[in-house]
Amino acid sequence: MHLWAVSITIMGYKDQIDLSRLPQHVAIIMDGNGRWAKGKGKLRVFGHHNGVLSVRDVVEGAGELGVKYLTLYTFSAENWNRPSFEVTAIMELLVSTINKEIKKLMQNNVKLNAIGDLALLPKRCHNELQGAIDQTAGNTGLVLTLALSYSSRRELMQAAKNIAEQVKEGTLNPEDITEDVFAQNLYTHNLPDPELMIRTSGEYRISNYLLWQIAYAELYFTTKLWPDFRREDLYEAILDYQKRERRFGKTSEQVN
Ligand code: FPP
Repeated sequence: MHLWAVSITIMGYKDQIDLSRLPQHVAIIMDGNGRWAKGKGKLRVFGHHNGVLSVRDVVEGAGELGVKYLTLYTFSAENWNRPSFEVTAIMELLVSTINKEIKKLMQNNVKLNAIGDLALLPKRCHNELQGAIDQTAGNTGLVLTLALSYSSRRELMQAAKNIAEQVKEGTLNPEDITEDVFAQNLYTHNLPDPELMIRTSGEYRISNYLLWQIAYAELYFTTKLWPDFRREDLYEAILDYQKRERRFGKTSEQVN
């Protein structure tokens, strides 16, 4: 084989990505931990523990590539209805992961953020999370947002309530309610909308995640279960995103 042929063969997904057209915000629905563990004859919690390894690799990989915002669906409002053993294990995992990873987050200049009804988290979990958010507040690299106790419908409902309060108090005219005003009342007011949304595990649903924010996101589904997902899979998804034509309601001729 000629040398050039060899170099093409070993060119990974990362090398093929056009860095000038990266999605600045990638949102991920990390799904399939339970099935991954079950397939190995283990408890579901084993899947969550291994899911953390994927989180670590994807966070590093995203930061290394230059993605600015990464938002991970870590625990939905509906997940509170899981068996209490599993809920407790996930909360413990969250605390231990934050403790273990905080040094790395600081080294990698990652700014931690969280969205959702955080007041519902166990106190210790909430405190650890807030501590890490405060500690990383000055970092200027990747903004890593964990969606915890998150429900997009509740977020939208809360935004509507906030806006109604402002109208009631006389600080906002109903005619002045624009898309921007609405977006400013969401948990994600300080984040741009995701351009790419990834879901693992072969499920083709959005599951109450960032419903407003993904209005124009490209959706990418993979059958890989979350504990098997690594940075190369993220790069593959970004490459796929770069092959798409984003028209925002216009014609192909207009956007070209
Ligand atoms: C979905 O798989 C996964 C979750 C509900 C939990 C996600 C949590 C982690 C990856 C670990 C903690 C993360 C951080 C950031 C510390 P599932 O349990 O719904 O899988 P299934 O669909 O196969 O049952």
